[in-house]
Amino acid sequence: SAGVTRGPDGALRVAGADLRELVAAHGTPAYLLDEADLRARARAYRDAFTEAFAAVGAGVDVYYAGKALLTVAVARWVHDEGLRIDTATGGELAVALRAGVPGAHIGLHGNNKSDAELEAAVAAGVGRVVLDSLVEIGRVAAVAQRHGVRVPVMVRVTTGVHAGGHEYISTAHEDQKFGLSVAVPAGAQDSPAMTALLAVLDHPGLELVGIHSHIGSQILDAEGFVVAARAVLTLRGELARRTGVLVPEVDLGGGYGIAYLPGERALDPVVVAGRLAQGVAAVAAELDQPLPRFSIEPGRAIAGPAGLTVYEVGTVKPVRTEDGTVRTYVSVDGGMSDNLRTALYGASYHAELGDRVSDAPGVPARVVGKHCESGDVVVRDVVLPGDVRAGDLLVVPATGAYGRSMASNYNQVPRPPVVAVRDGAARVLVRRETVEDLLALDLG
Ligand code: LLP
Repeated sequence: SAGVTRGPDGALRVAGADLRELVAAHGTPAYLLDEADLRARARAYRDAFTEAFAAVGAGVDVYYAGKALLTVAVARWVHDEGLRIDTATGGELAVALRAGVPGAHIGLHGNNKSDAELEAAVAAGVGRVVLDSLVEIGRVAAVAQRHGVRVPVMVRVTTGVHAGGHEYISTAHEDQKFGLSVAVPAGAQDSPAMTALLAVLDHPGLELVGIHSHIGSQILDAEGFVVAARAVLTLRGELARRTGVLVPEVDLGGGYGIAYLPGERALDPVVVAGRLAQGVAAVAAELDQPLPRFSIEPGRAIAGPAGLTVYEVGTVKPVRTEDGTVRTYVSVDGGMSDNLRTALYGASYHAELGDRVSDAPGVPARVVGKHCESGDVVVRDVVLPGDVRAGDLLVVPATGAYGRSMASNYNQVPRPPVVAVRDGAARVLVRRETVEDLLALDLG
């Protein structure tokens, strides 16, 4: 991440603090977060999109997708930087509210929101509830009626565009749980998306504020967003022709890709914002439609590169592989309980020594955790100095998103703390769990 440098004695410095001192104070494993870097990424998205969309005459709001990493402080930081907060559960909503983010600046997603979550969202006056199914329309309308308010809602649609990595694919029908399809099924009059939009307009307790589309995650090319935007704007045009209602806002979701490995390319917010703004302007002109207000929901791109995990090496074991070569298994004091992404998605990460440099020749290594299964891998393939040994600190960069937020207590392992560093000073945002914390939940 941007705030990591190596000091003259070979130890890493994170946002101006010596890694060894951070570890002495906070232990391992720990998630370290560079506050200035995270804030700068939030600003970069806000500024890039605001400028690019202003240039084509459209307004835009940037929502931080809290699923990537949400703590009270993180919610405050991004809100300070002019972002709103996208939440996916009542828990995320509670964190955003605890941070003092006004309800009007919060959105609530979810394909199966509970009545309690809907009640909490409406009570907080959230700026939008994103509807994900036809049955949900009645549920939200009932909550609106109980509270005597009109609830602002968006309808989440699926455009058939899937993206992630370098390419996007486009198919009419999607076999997944989110959203309502814009495709008209054989023999039907309307698409599920159109049916939902019409149903929302029929409910006096619901205010249709937007159409929402999220096409995937870790996307490295803007084209898929533009193709999805075309489908959404086409739907918006059809609805306007049929009902006279021009939906005011279109949310294009999150998914902006980051670099996980040295030398990898991230999606540049300025480039993607420019391409997207030009793209939607061209489509709107072609459809002869006034531009809506837009919103986006980046999560990973804000939090991911701003965080790293520091571990201590416990054991080092050379293992002869099938092809006769030797792989060095380096076990650290965490694993799939603090970073599930390698095991779950086959995600790639990098690791390097954190407290020293070594001129020992590199060896092919695998960084593994302490859990009781062989899939417990943190970094599948990395070259580490051949003298890597117990007591070394290892850092894994780019773990700020979907690390802590997907952490578990597998094997009754307490989850690591989240420690923010700014100008050389550290502050614990979320304290380390203890076995006592876990035992306290177990009623015997
Ligand atoms: N908006 C919606 C509606 C989403 O479903 C998501 C992510 C986002 C925004 C934020 O996407 P981002 O900008 O962070 O890519 N656990 C997976 C990622 C799951 C993403 C799910 N939805 C991972 O670790 O890669």
